[in-house]
This record gives sequence, C-alpha cells and structure tokens, in this order.
Amino acid sequence: MGSDQVLGVGMVGYAFMGAAHSQAWRTAGRFFDLPLQPDMAVLCGRNAEATAAAAQRMGWRTTETDWKALLGRDDVQLVDVCTPGDTHAEIAIAALEAGKHVLCEKPLANTVDEARAMVAAAERAQAKGVRSMVGFNYRRVPAIALARKLVEEGRIGQVRHVRAQYLQDWIVDPEFPLVWRLQAERAGSGALGDIGAHIVDMAQFVTGDLLTNVTAMTETFITERPLPGASSGLTASGSDERGPVTVDDAALFIGRFASGAVASFEATRFATGRKNAIRLEINGSAGSLAFDFEAMNELSFYDGTEDPETAGFRRILVTEPTHPYAGAWWPPGHLLGYEHSFTHEVVDLLRDLAAGTDPTPSFADGLQVQLVLDAVVRSAQSGSWHPIPS
Ligand SMILES: NC(=O)c1ccc[n+]([C@@H]2O[C@H](COP(=O)([O-])OP(=O)(O)OC[C@H]3O[C@@H](n4cnc5c(N)ncnc54)[C@H](O)[C@@H]3O)[C@@H](O)[C@H]2O)c1
Repeated sequence: MGSDQVLGVGMVGYAFMGAAHSQAWRTAGRFFDLPLQPDMAVLCGRNAEATAAAAQRMGWRTTETDWKALLGRDDVQLVDVCTPGDTHAEIAIAALEAGKHVLCEKPLANTVDEARAMVAAAERAQAKGVRSMVGFNYRRVPAIALARKLVEEGRIGQVRHVRAQYLQDWIVDPEFPLVWRLQAERAGSGALGDIGAHIVDMAQFVTGDLLTNVTAMTETFITERPLPGASSGLTASGSDERGPVTVDDAALFIGRFASGAVASFEATRFATGRKNAIRLEINGSAGSLAFDFEAMNELSFYDGTEDPETAGFRRILVTEPTHPYAGAWWPPGHLLGYEHSFTHEVVDLLRDLAAGTDPTPSFADGLQVQLVLDAVVRSAQSGSWHPIPS
C-alpha cells in the first residue's frame, strides 16, 4: 500500500526533459508502491501562456513564470531542474538554500567551478536533511542496473576493458540551426557534456570504479550554422543569419580506471544512422557484458566459466519480475522504453527522501563526471599527438 504522505514538486523547464520528468512524476505512484506520493504542484516556464498550456498537457496543478517564485512556495518541497546547463548552478543552489530538495538534470553544471559550488551547497543542505540528486537516468535502465549487479557479484571477474560509445546523428545536416546545445556559453560543451557525460557515468556505475586519467581528441566538423528560428528543440529550423558553433561535435578519449582497467569512449552527433545508440561493452577476466540502448531491454552476457563447447554470448531479455525495476510493470517480454528510466529515477529518489537516505547519483558524483569532462577538454586542447613518420 502506498503512503498518503505527499511531496510537492516544482519543475523548471517543460520541453524535452520537462516532458520526460512529467511522465515520471505522473506514473511513479501508479506502478510502484511509494512511501511518498509526488504532488505535481507547479510548472515553471518563462512564457505564461505557453507554460499554462504545458501544465495542462503534462498534469501540473499551477504555474509560475520565475523560478525564484518556487523557492517561497509552501507547497513545493522539491525543485526539479530541467533547463539548459547554464542555469543549473544558480537554480539548484538557490533551491537548496531555500530548504528544497533538488533533482537536477545532467551534466550537473557547465564548469567544474559551478559543480564545486553545487556540491558545497548540497553538503550544507544535507546537514539539514535537504537532499539532492543528478539525473543520470540511464543507470535506471533495467539492463544497466542488471549489468551493475552482475559485475558486483563477480560474474565477469576482474574488469579489463570498458568500451563505451554514445552515437547520435541529429546535426549531420550542416543547415541544422545553432540551437543552445551548440553554444558553449549555454551548454558548456557539445557531444562531450551532453552525451559523453552519460557514458562516463554509466561506465563508472557499472564497473563500480572511477577513471583516474584520460587522453582525448575533440572535433567540430561544422563550424558555422544558421541562427535558430522560432523553436529551438532537437528539430528546430534555422534563419538566414549564421553564427559560430562553439562546442565539439564529437569527442573521443581513452582512459584508465583505478583498478587498472583500460577504457575507450566515443561521443558523437555525427554517427549517420545512429539515433541514440548507447553502447557499453565490458570484458572481464571471467566474462563479458554488452548493451546497446537501441535494444534497451536486452543485455548480452558471456560467461567465460562455461564449457567452451557451448559457451557464447547469451541475450538476456531483462523483463523478468526478478530483474531491477521490471517487476512493477508488465508480464515478461512486454517491453519497457526510454521514459521508464525517468520513472525509476524518481521512484528511487522518493524512497530515499522518505527513508532519509542520500540519493544517488549525488551532486558529488556529478562533480566527479564534470572533472572527467574537464580533463578530456584539457587533454584535447594540449593535443599531445605523436606524428607517424612517413
Ligand atoms: N537525462 C537525459 O537523458 C537528458 C536528455 C536530454 C537533455 N538532458 C538535460 O536536460 C536539460 C534540459 O535539456 P532539454 O533537452 O530538456 O532542453 P530543451 O531545450 O528541450 O528544454 C529546455 C527548457 O528550459 C526552459 N528554460 C531555459 N532557460 C530557462 C530559465 N531561465 N527559466 C525557466 N525556464 C528556462 C526552456 O524554455 C525549455 O522549456 C539539460 O541539462 C540537458 O543536458 C538530459
């Protein structure tokens, strides 16, 4: 039986992530037995009319047009930050200082300094029982949670290799406009912070290990694009004026984990034909795991302890009631989708808030990913390349 205790939520931003988080807040208590029921109290946007329409569509009770108004509202106990990276630090720090729990989208911030300030605010707030979480939702895909469990149980032995890719293709067209994700002052970085951050977090989460150093290259293939027209989402149209692209289109790096495992990472928006291919392969001394988000209900597992005669990668359909999160949904084989990872994120958050425990990934985890991203940028800039003599 769910509890009658209520947590008032105020969400800032109502486009892509706003829609995904709204879906999560709407469904969490309908499928999971929760100790705290979310109340979708306030949606905040800057345009009153558009915000009201979005609130109606997505199920929010009231609206505000300035995020600062959320901080003074008694019916808001948690602020959900679904805005671009340049706003995360200011909103999250103010919310924590006002005694509101915070769920903040990834990457935690645009810079290491901002992320450090957010961690300091989170630590001060935590001392008063106010908690925070960063939205690395892919941790909560059942197949990824199962991969973590198998590594933790030692089923693949000692991890030797991590191979991670995040491949998209939505800006292959040079006429795709200069949306905020292509502007350094709004997004911090390009493919690196937007999608590279996810594979860094996933690789560290699944292995239970941290990267200790990296060497990297980044590339911007299209250096100038049309300025955006009226809308600025992933399917925006452009105007006649053009402006410079100030972020990376692709980032490639190799790294080393504390355990000695070696890793390669590739994050790109130029992988023509790949839409949201998040691939993770981990090779251990006793087995391997492989995942591709474009088949997100599956996890491939090679058990190196089996008889070689019949050993081979097996495809686990991660929809059994015993699999992480899956039991709350449908019968085995009735597949889950993208949105479920966000529902799982808020379910875990609500359970932690009710239990008085710290949610993960924490702001400190977000800072650690930011430090990896920063090291990638520095390495790419220093360009320690060794030419091959001809
Ligand atoms: N977890 C994921 O898989 C995932 C996926 C996409 C985006 N994100 C992250 O979510 C965040 C938002 O990205 P998005 O794709 O939803 O962007 P978006 O452009 O679709 O939406 C941004 C929203 O923020 C609003 N906004 C911007 N500045 C604001 C301000 N000062 N006050 C109030 N509202 C403001 C915009 O009006 C819009 O509603 C980013 O940090 C992004 O990296 C995470």
